[in-house]
Amino acid sequence: MLRYLTAGESHGPMLLGILEGLPAGIPLEAAFINRYLARRQGGYGRGGRQKIEKDEVRIVAGVRHGETLGSPLGFLLENRDFAHWQGVMDPEREARDEEKAARRAVKEPRPGHADLVGGLKYDRADLRDILERASARETAMKVALGAAALRFLEELDIHVAGYVVAMGEAAMDPAELEALSFWERRERAAGSPVYCPSPRASEAMVEAVREAARRNDTLGGVVEVMAVGLPVGLGSHIAAERRLEGRLAAALMALPAVKGVEVGLGFGAAYRYGSQVHDAIYREAEARRKGGYTRSTNRAGGLEGGITNGMPLVVRLAMKPLSTLTHPLPTVNIVTKEPSRAAVERTDVAAVPALSVVAEAAVGLVLADAVLEKFGGDSLKEVKRNLEGFLAQMEAHPSP
Ligand SMILES: Cc1cc2nc3c(=O)[nH]c(=O)nc-3n(C[C@H](O)[C@H](O)[C@H](O)COP(=O)(O)O)c2cc1C
Repeated sequence: MLRYLTAGESHGPMLLGILEGLPAGIPLEAAFINRYLARRQGGYGRGGRQKIEKDEVRIVAGVRHGETLGSPLGFLLENRDFAHWQGVMDPEREARDEEKAARRAVKEPRPGHADLVGGLKYDRADLRDILERASARETAMKVALGAAALRFLEELDIHVAGYVVAMGEAAMDPAELEALSFWERRERAAGSPVYCPSPRASEAMVEAVREAARRNDTLGGVVEVMAVGLPVGLGSHIAAERRLEGRLAAALMALPAVKGVEVGLGFGAAYRYGSQVHDAIYREAEARRKGGYTRSTNRAGGLEGGITNGMPLVVRLAMKPLSTLTHPLPTVNIVTKEPSRAAVERTDVAAVPALSVVAEAAVGLVLADAVLEKFGGDSLKEVKRNLEGFLAQMEAHPSP
């Protein structure tokens, strides 16, 4: 239903994005998207580049006078840093500055990054040809496209929030998290330097980042994404590629540095009895989006059989510590084949808060796709009508 494409190198002239499949009639302004971009650039632990960049999207297609047209959305994001990389990253051969390009050439691959495997696979002598695209700079465009999807979902009263629950060993108490509503999680995370809903855990996380920086090291963490307002019926049990778990996991595992994804109890479910894992079903006639039923617990994280059950969707992502180390690990120089130390690019100490924004956008894209699959229409009005029709159908379930 929805498809998107991004292009652009980290220090190239700009990033491009196309998103096709959103209906006409969605209110969409650059200012809305820019708020997501600013959040992606923030968060304690990020490096110098974020100060240079100040991302602002330029909407060049698919929107007229603040409303989507149903045609493909076209976004541009300038890389302000390109000014410092002229002669190195220009598309034109004549613009190449030999001396500057040689100084920026990467011959010592960083363990944990795409440098070596990408260089071997694409047969590039300068590993910069790989790292420029493997860099998480690309996620800026993903956030911009995801923001458009989230704007669409908002119109249907579906809301998504990403927040940080652990950085290194500094973790939020699960009971404290459990006690917070979706809106409290979102509001508190917005007020935290590390986008964590707990002030106490936020302090511990800031200290963990400081300690990693003191050690010239990097730090990973855990991000949670929650979505509320989802009706029963997104995704399907009938085929592997339509199960919503799989679609979410594929989108989230594909984000840079993400090494694990779980839904609801996730891995925790493996250590309990069935009666401690499943969510008992009760009648709640007025819960229209839940088809007139509810659960007293939400261990399934809002999905059963690859289909939304109307409870909040809860997914978690594990992010590894970043692989660019200021005290680099041993590596091999690809020209001399001699042992060496890995290249040092400008880098973050921790990007877990930024990942929470990227993950929120990625979940937004998957959910918007699933909504369009079930309630698809060419205009927002038509989608709303289809959703309403399905809710009425569930009220009358089972049909005579
Ligand atoms: C928001 C965000 C920011 C990142 N910043 C950095 C960084 O500054 N330095 C770094 O080495 N890796 C960074 N990464 C991770 C790399 O992009 C990633 O590790 C690399 O592309 C290799 O892919 P893999 O870790 O999935 O195997 C970041 C990832 C995200 C999501």
